[in-house]
Amino acid sequence: MSAISFELIKKDPGCAARLGSLTTTHGKIETPIFMPVGTQATVKAMTPEELVEVGSQIILANTYHLYLRPGHELVGRLGGLHRFMHWDRPMLTDSGGFQVFSLGELRKISEEGVKFRSHIDGSKHFISPEVSIAIQEALGADIAMCFDECPPYPAERSYVQKSLELTTRWARRCKDAHSRPDQALFGIVQGGMHPDLRRESARQITDIGFDGYALGGLSVGEEKEVMHGMMQECSDILPEDSPRYIMGIGAPEDLVEAVYNGFDMFDCVMPTRNARNGALFTSFGRINIKAAIYAEDQGPIDPACDCYVCRNYSRAYLRHLYRSQEILASRLNSWHNLHFYLDLMKEVREAIGRGEFVKFRQDFYAARTAC
Ligand code: GUN
Ligand code: ZN
Repeated sequence: MSAISFELIKKDPGCAARLGSLTTTHGKIETPIFMPVGTQATVKAMTPEELVEVGSQIILANTYHLYLRPGHELVGRLGGLHRFMHWDRPMLTDSGGFQVFSLGELRKISEEGVKFRSHIDGSKHFISPEVSIAIQEALGADIAMCFDECPPYPAERSYVQKSLELTTRWARRCKDAHSRPDQALFGIVQGGMHPDLRRESARQITDIGFDGYALGGLSVGEEKEVMHGMMQECSDILPEDSPRYIMGIGAPEDLVEAVYNGFDMFDCVMPTRNARNGALFTSFGRINIKAAIYAEDQGPIDPACDCYVCRNYSRAYLRHLYRSQEILASRLNSWHNLHFYLDLMKEVREAIGRGEFVKFRQDFYAARTAC
């Protein structure tokens, strides 16, 4: 028995977009879905109740960070991540594969795994596929991810080929090590920006067989057109009856393109990180609340938004909070940005439900070029 089940509800007649429902141990989520990132077992500046209020159905946490601090064994002893952080809905943990490469210092990759030094205190650590799975089982999210190597960009084709083969051997070891019946395990497809290597990786990973499949190694510094091109190239290399996840994307337009190409799940720090830097998403594009033009602006961030922040606070007040470095600036900005992302995905699902996603995508771009 699989720990999750995925039901494909509807396919858009004009493109690859799909509407689905994913049932996990902690409940159902509607797809396409955006997963707010809670790296340190907290989506920065938001309580779990507030996450629900803005429309979050599933959130993500990071193996790498929680292993280093406070330690997965401690979280396990305290009843797992759900209880530890007071979130009783679906959750996914990333494997540490990406973070070891982006944050770990002096790392050394071998067949066995990755040796690295902590970005916190320089201490030495080793994560292998088996260790990553043990950490993720202790954390106890509904969905765990395979431990993978995310190659840098650009990289030699020969390196990318070797790397994807290592990722496949690690994926096999992850599947063998994984034993929690209430936790799903997703495979990760690598292959850089080479369509044929992506296909090869997808064939190897789907041959092993997982509960869902992710594309890793995107949004690593490539041009947007290259990323969107890869989405198109990879849309039909993953099984139709499994959830398809693109890791670490993206801007609103990246999500719209990914949905258009048949992907179901996404995560990114962009809404929360940008919020803390004063960058706010709106239906007409991005604004920065610190700009002088907002000094006496009594309007909401986005007149088309019905979130708590837009109903109650002016751009002028939010600009003041931001400039004064008040904690409330981070809270309210994160609130609005997450609401914007989750509401966008809700509209996306409604459009697919009506069979009108192609028109939705056109209108989405038209609204942004109108101003
Ligand atoms: N998050 C963003 N990209 C990646 C990736 O390639 N691998 C993993 N494990 N996580 C990611
Ligand atoms: Zn708002």
